[in-house]
Amino acid sequence: MNKYENNRNFMKSNFHEEVESDQQKQLPQPPLQKPYSEEDELIELPKADKGIVIKNDAYDCIMDRMSHRKYKDGFLKLEELSYLLYMTQGVKSIRGNNYATLRPVPSAGARHPYETYLAVDRVEGLKKGIYRYVPIEHKLLLVKEDKDISSHIIEGALGQKFAGTAQVNFIWSVIPYRSEWRYAHKSHKVMLIDVGHICHALYLACETIGLGTCAIAAYDQKYMDSLIDVDGEDEFVVYMAPVGRVI
Ligand SMILES: Cc1cc2nc3c(=O)[nH]c(=O)nc-3n(C[C@H](O)[C@H](O)[C@H](O)COP(=O)(O)O)c2cc1C
Repeated sequence: MNKYENNRNFMKSNFHEEVESDQQKQLPQPPLQKPYSEEDELIELPKADKGIVIKNDAYDCIMDRMSHRKYKDGFLKLEELSYLLYMTQGVKSIRGNNYATLRPVPSAGARHPYETYLAVDRVEGLKKGIYRYVPIEHKLLLVKEDKDISSHIIEGALGQKFAGTAQVNFIWSVIPYRSEWRYAHKSHKVMLIDVGHICHALYLACETIGLGTCAIAAYDQKYMDSLIDVDGEDEFVVYMAPVGRVI
C-alpha cells in the first residue's frame, strides 16, 4: 500500500456509490449565500463595468496569465475591485425558487459553496480590514477593521511577504454543507475543483485590467480562519490570492 493511498483516494470519483443525501431526505436547502443581519454594515459597490477592460483578446489573456508577486504602490479603485468580485463570484441569475445561482465560474450542481472575503489594505474608499462579498446584492459587508492587515496577512500566509504588499487579498472560505446537502460524501472532491475555477477566473480577470495575482494554498489554517472570523468547521479558508497592480 502506498503511504499516501488514503489521501489519494479522496481525489477519485465516488459518484457511482448510492447514498441518500439530505436533499433526497427533503431536508431544507442551506442558503445560497451566507446570511447577514440588519446590524451588519453593507457597502455599495459600483456596477461591474467592462468599460475598464484594457486587454480584450482572450487568447492573449490566457497565454499571458502568470503568477505575479510584485505589485506597485498606490491604491486600487473600487471599480476594479467590484469588477474582480463580479468576474469571480458575481451572481448572473438565480434559478428556480432560490434553488441555485449561476455565476461566471462553473460549480458542481451549481452549489457554489464558497464565500469571498477580502483583506483590504489599499483600496480607494475602503478602510483597512476584512470584508465579505455579498454576491446576490453585489455589496460588501465590513467584518472588521484592521489597521495591521498587511502584517496579519503575511503571518497568515506563513511568512510569504509578497502577500502583504498587495493592495487586497482575496480569501475563499468554503461552507461545505451547501454542497454536502446535495452530494453528501461525494461533495468534497468537487468542492476543491470548484475553487480552482474561481481562482483561475481571478487570474484572467486581473489580466484584462492590468492587475496581477498569485494563488496561495500555503497558509496557516487556524490563523486565517480566525482572521476572517469563521469557526473552522462549518466554514473554513481553502485558498487565497493577493491582488495588485503589476510592475
Ligand atoms: C493550488 C496552488 C497553490 C499555490 N500556492 C502558492 C503559494 O502558497 N505561494 C506561492 O508563491 N505560489 C503559489 N502558487 C503559484 C504557483 O507557484 C504557480 O502557479 C506556478 O509556479 C506556475 O507559475 P505561473 O502561475 O506563473 O504559471 C500556487 C498555485 C496553485 C495552483
